[in-house]
Amino acid sequence: MPDGRSSSPETKKPLIYLNNAATSWPKPPGVIAAIQQSLSLPVFGSGRTTGTQGEDYISLAREKIAAFLGAEPPEHIVFSAHATDSLNILISGFIQKFYTEQQTSGSDSGCHVLTTALDHNSVLRPLHELKKRHSSSGFQLEIISFDDQCSIRPEMIEAAIRPDTRLMVLSHGSNVLGSLQDIHSIGKILHDHGIFFIVDGAQTAGHIKINLSDLPVDAFVFTGHKALLGLPGTGGFYLRDPERIAPVRFGGTGTSSFSLDHPPEMPERFEIGTQNYPGLAALAAGVAFIEEKGLSAIEEQSMRQTSFIIRELCKEPNITIYNKHPDLPVIAFNINGLANDDVGFILARGYNIIARTGLHCAPLVHNEIDGGKGCVRLSLSVFTTDEECRVAAEAIREIARHANRPVSTA
Ligand SMILES: Cc1ncc(COP(=O)(O)O)c(C=O)c1O
Repeated sequence: MPDGRSSSPETKKPLIYLNNAATSWPKPPGVIAAIQQSLSLPVFGSGRTTGTQGEDYISLAREKIAAFLGAEPPEHIVFSAHATDSLNILISGFIQKFYTEQQTSGSDSGCHVLTTALDHNSVLRPLHELKKRHSSSGFQLEIISFDDQCSIRPEMIEAAIRPDTRLMVLSHGSNVLGSLQDIHSIGKILHDHGIFFIVDGAQTAGHIKINLSDLPVDAFVFTGHKALLGLPGTGGFYLRDPERIAPVRFGGTGTSSFSLDHPPEMPERFEIGTQNYPGLAALAAGVAFIEEKGLSAIEEQSMRQTSFIIRELCKEPNITIYNKHPDLPVIAFNINGLANDDVGFILARGYNIIARTGLHCAPLVHNEIDGGKGCVRLSLSVFTTDEECRVAAEAIREIARHANRPVSTA
């Protein structure tokens, strides 16, 4: 085990970490070694240093992640602080460009934007903010709901499109329900209507095969610290046509330094300041680990374990599972009669099992599934063992059986 998994002092039970959709743990030994290695010599990066001995970790990571996601050319991969940062850059940059062009052309044709009830606050909040800022200039936000398969069907998108629809932002994989969206079919429809398509891949990159050369998406967002097994504070996006997004942040790039105009070239157009190169070395090592294990082997293991836990939880009639057939290793449930945060507390204190409870930063999902109360979420990683799944399922079943018992007043 590549980590310091320890027993809880209260339970003496070994720690079982099932909160990998929030941030993955443990990290592969190669990831930890890469951070140490990257700090062992001064960083080398063209334009910024004169050294020749160190590695250019940033370019290496860019090439690694571009090849992993099937993204061409590698310079169209932009690194940022996380998926949230990437979504802010893309969403604000698209809307800024749209309104600047409207002003220049003297047109006033409205801006209808689509997203979904499955989306995360890192999509919903930037869009909501823009709606407040631009409501007097025709900005309208439409939120599409999901069907009983936890899915946004392409025909639901087709039905929502209007002549003034400019942008759609869609979560590729739900962080609550674990459902995948058919971004290929949805992207084709959006492109037929000339609509810009941003996909939030925070929950999919590292879990499933993604080949951006084959997908009709304009921008794809990833994060480093979840299934890609890297560090918090790393992530980025792929952008097919940089001209579609106005830069919204400016600063030093180490290039064209005499010019007060920010360089228009990729990736400097969107990458400012000193990059988190130990984090990017870790990201490249995370991807290397996944490649070595094999993405399909990882997916097969995680989904087999996910199905096992779901089958076990289904044996208790007072457990409600919100998606019994997830596409990602994510299980959302409640125990009838117990608040979700109480279940989380009992799991942590009684069993040393780390889950996540509450709204999972995707509030609109909960309006549809649990009346806005939130739920317990288990999420697996490549390091989750069969035994951990067995212990966790048994613990949850035990809690559910106790929740069913009448309270003794003696
Ligand atoms: C679907 C989805 N989008 C975006 C994010 C934000 O990711 P980050 O922590 O990299 O900003 C998350 C993380 O919880 C997520 O699940």
